[in-house]
Amino acid sequence: MNTPEWVEHRGLVAWVNEMAELCKPADIHWCDGSQSEYDELCEQLVESGAFIRLNPQKRPRSFLARSDPSDVARVEERTFICARSEEDAGPTNNWMDPRAMMGILRGLFAGSMVGRTMYVVPFSMGPLGSPIAQLGVQITDSPYAVVSMRIMTRMGRAAAEVLGADGEFVPCMHSVGAPLAEGEQDAAWPCNPTEKYIVHFPESREIWSYGSGYGGNALLGKKCLALRIASTMARDEGWLAEHMLILGVTDPEGEKTYVAAAFPSACGKTNFAMLVPPPAFTDQGWKVTTVGDDIAWIKPGENGRLMAINPEAGYFGVAPGTSYATNPNAMESIRSDTIFTNVALTDDGDVWWEGMDGPTPEHLIDWQGHDWTPASDTKAAHPNSRFTSPATLNPALDESWDDPAGVPIRAFVFGGRRAGTIPLVVQSFNWAFGVYMAATMGSETTAAAFGKQGVVRRDPFAMLPFSGYHMGDYVNHWLALGRTVRNPPRIFEVNWFRRDEDGKFLWPGFGENMRVLQWIVARSRGRALGIESPLGWMPRYEDLTWDGLDFSEQDFFSCMAINRVDWTAELLDVEELFMKLYNRLPKEMEMIRSLTTSALWRSPKNWEMNSDPT
Ligand code: GTP
Ligand code: SPV
Ligand code: MN
Repeated sequence: MNTPEWVEHRGLVAWVNEMAELCKPADIHWCDGSQSEYDELCEQLVESGAFIRLNPQKRPRSFLARSDPSDVARVEERTFICARSEEDAGPTNNWMDPRAMMGILRGLFAGSMVGRTMYVVPFSMGPLGSPIAQLGVQITDSPYAVVSMRIMTRMGRAAAEVLGADGEFVPCMHSVGAPLAEGEQDAAWPCNPTEKYIVHFPESREIWSYGSGYGGNALLGKKCLALRIASTMARDEGWLAEHMLILGVTDPEGEKTYVAAAFPSACGKTNFAMLVPPPAFTDQGWKVTTVGDDIAWIKPGENGRLMAINPEAGYFGVAPGTSYATNPNAMESIRSDTIFTNVALTDDGDVWWEGMDGPTPEHLIDWQGHDWTPASDTKAAHPNSRFTSPATLNPALDESWDDPAGVPIRAFVFGGRRAGTIPLVVQSFNWAFGVYMAATMGSETTAAAFGKQGVVRRDPFAMLPFSGYHMGDYVNHWLALGRTVRNPPRIFEVNWFRRDEDGKFLWPGFGENMRVLQWIVARSRGRALGIESPLGWMPRYEDLTWDGLDFSEQDFFSCMAINRVDWTAELLDVEELFMKLYNRLPKEMEMIRSLTTSALWRSPKNWEMNSDPT
């Protein structure tokens, strides 16, 4: 086998040999991560029809890929946590006995790469050599996954060199599950339309993914390693692997505060991470910078603070809704060197999706390759269409984004997509109440995962699809970690998605979220005022800055109201989650639920924002 001279790890070479014997590829390619390798792979994808080169004048070095219509999102039903004991995977994960599962997988992978090249992709999640980073090696038969991994991770020779001769790595096995018979014409998006398995073995720290080429199913460094496997490492080693963005807020005095926020898939992390404050704020010198937009690894530092890194190196962002009006930094990040998947193609070779600035084009090719006009009753871009772009193109990239030491977190924010019930912002009374808030979070399902959309489900810590172990233990781990930190971050809950009776958003969102973020930062430094509500501390109207926004006190109350009828349903739903997790859920959670119930009902009437006695 043609192992390059920069690969010194005999265990790695042995594993690659064993997998090649199993999968029977036509060829093996060790990825060095160079620009020329990336360019050649992209060229090859263009030639095979998998990539469409976009107009180089409009979108230099950028490509469009259209997936198989059956392979457009994560598949939670086909995602498994194969811990030795079913109890450790917990009731919110799919489980199968690891040995039985391994038998199935070996059967599926046998000959799965016939007629294809097997790529070996060493990568680092996190800055190379950072004490918080982890190494992985993905074997894949998808060149699309390889070029995406080059954008999303620190990939290739540099990662292999950090691994050295005896470093530890997470083996990540991936096949699209579409072997090619001799002379057979390859599909533009090979995948297995009927059989998919996204499997994690937390004890042996292995990942096996079969049948899908899309996003989190195929870029195994992302959700599989950086969340499902990493969360079990974090539990064992006393740190956190979270579905969180990380941003920095610089105030007019130049003081910097880092905030990490967990929102479920397609609920606003990328947008919040790249937030551009309204003119009233930027004029005074407020600035928001991006450390990460999807995943945070957080470790207690020697300075007594929680230090966070972004394990990724790029953005795999939701395209629809992204525009200069909503997220200019994202628009700047995708001007070149970007891979677009399942967006629409314009007649002049550029990309388009619903919610982009300007008028809707008269004619497009939609994400399935069909002619599309504004009269069509389908979406031109798939709701989970995405851009894959390097972090270095983001004009708001934080200066410490690549710092191996990470950045100190002062506030955690949790938020879901909720048409009602949850107020715009509330600060928890303390760490345990904050953990309760996070554990009981609910959100409407989105197109980021296959299945019904718009139904509210409990999504503790925005980690329901990503926890590698029992969710009750997860809650306990958070509680315990808070006790070890001298000055733990303050915890907040937000909801940008409240709607009126006509379904219109009550809160303008996007850049205007700065008004809430300013209060969060100030509270986390003990500076701003708030009043006590049944749920926690809330800002009064006068505690937020309203310059440059026409938003009345009444508008504010409608975003902040706590309605007893809604909360009856909410607390019953929470109770249902708690019963599911009962045997492993810390007792504090049930107690705080009781306290919340009594705070809501032990007063003579509905608590109202505007009846504040001060
Ligand atoms: P994943 O990559 O799936 O983890 O998603 P994400 O959490 O990064 O979500 P993202 O920022 O991509 O936003 C998802 C969708 O929500 C996009 O269509 C956004 O335009 C929309 N969105 C984001 N922030 C806001 C907001 O403040 N208000 C409203 N109304 N919509 C928002
Ligand atoms: C998510 O679904 O939360 C994503 C997209 O960030 S994926 O990488 O497919 O998981
Ligand atoms: Mn995500």
